[in-house]
Amino acid sequence: MPKYKTALVTGGAGFIGSHIVDALVRRHIKVHVIDDLSTGSRKNLNPNVAFHKLSVVDPAAAQLVAKLKPDVVFHLAAQIDVRCSVEDPPSDARVNIMGTLNIAHASAKAGVKKFIFTSSGGAMYPDTLRPPYSEKTLDDPLSPYAIAKRSAEMYLSFEHRIHGMKTVVLRLANAYGPRQALRGGYAGVISVFARQLIKKEKAVINGNGKQTRDYVYVSDIVQAHMLAMEKPVTGTFNIGSGIQTDVNTLFRAINKLTGSKQKEVHGPACKGEVMRSALDARKARRELGWMPKVKLDEGLKKTVTWFSKL
Ligand SMILES: NC(=O)c1ccc[n+]([C@@H]2O[C@H](COP(=O)([O-])OP(=O)(O)OC[C@H]3O[C@@H](n4cnc5c(N)ncnc54)[C@H](O)[C@@H]3O)[C@@H](O)[C@H]2O)c1
Repeated sequence: MPKYKTALVTGGAGFIGSHIVDALVRRHIKVHVIDDLSTGSRKNLNPNVAFHKLSVVDPAAAQLVAKLKPDVVFHLAAQIDVRCSVEDPPSDARVNIMGTLNIAHASAKAGVKKFIFTSSGGAMYPDTLRPPYSEKTLDDPLSPYAIAKRSAEMYLSFEHRIHGMKTVVLRLANAYGPRQALRGGYAGVISVFARQLIKKEKAVINGNGKQTRDYVYVSDIVQAHMLAMEKPVTGTFNIGSGIQTDVNTLFRAINKLTGSKQKEVHGPACKGEVMRSALDARKARRELGWMPKVKLDEGLKKTVTWFSKL
């Protein structure tokens, strides 16, 4: 394994990024964070990092990469709200395509040894097929968010082929756990229900609640990123459990864990919502040695405990 001394984490004040930063600090790697704090928070920031409040689209961010010359870059900063991307595709593309290219191209020029990009598996594959989807499933990004993630992946492939930068794309399923935001984007149903049921606020299930997703606890997501850094691999990997869990099941489990005893209430379905999703991560198992370790009931318990302390 190459010895990495310095890392740059974009989006390091966000939910997943801040846990990645913590894991890098535990490995005694010097960490720089670029984040504009649009959805992230200083509260999430590890005290041992060098923080740069910047947007990834800003030329100053590229200049910083050129100056720092980090050994490894984890690029997580993104506009993560699919609905916002539908309402305003240019703004989404500015951050998710141009921002990624700004950081990736500067990284390639700066001689970054490895560039790890956090992409989306949930949004990438056509929901007309039967999940779980492997990386071989022909991608069919529907939302501008997914189109931007796919475009960013293709630019990374260019930086790899033409400039020789080693790149890894991790297509995540639905992450959940402590520090997940309660609003916007991936504001996962788990964090929203946990917060509502702890606070005895009314929780509403969208539609019939039979929509399924593949939920992965944040420590397993972090482990996938660490393995992507440590193993001599490049390419695209799905990161998911392959298991589908529906919203009704989540509601009942969190209701029980919080002792809230709320009745199930169903509201209107979200238009255009994918009904089923799960990822086949056998490639990650083979090449990265990655497997999710935290079972859903254990992860839910940890998440509810964390939210109940807020
Ligand atoms: N959470 C999930 O289930 C999930 C699933 C698939 C992919 N992802 C991807 O993982 C990454 C992290 O997502 P998250 O769930 O931790 O969300 P998050 O909102 O907590 O993290 C995103 C971070 O990026 C920062 N940011 C946004 N725009 C920026 C900009 N222009 N310049 C600098 N910083 C900016 C935000 O302030 C925030 O700290 C994203 O790229 C997201 O698309 C997440």
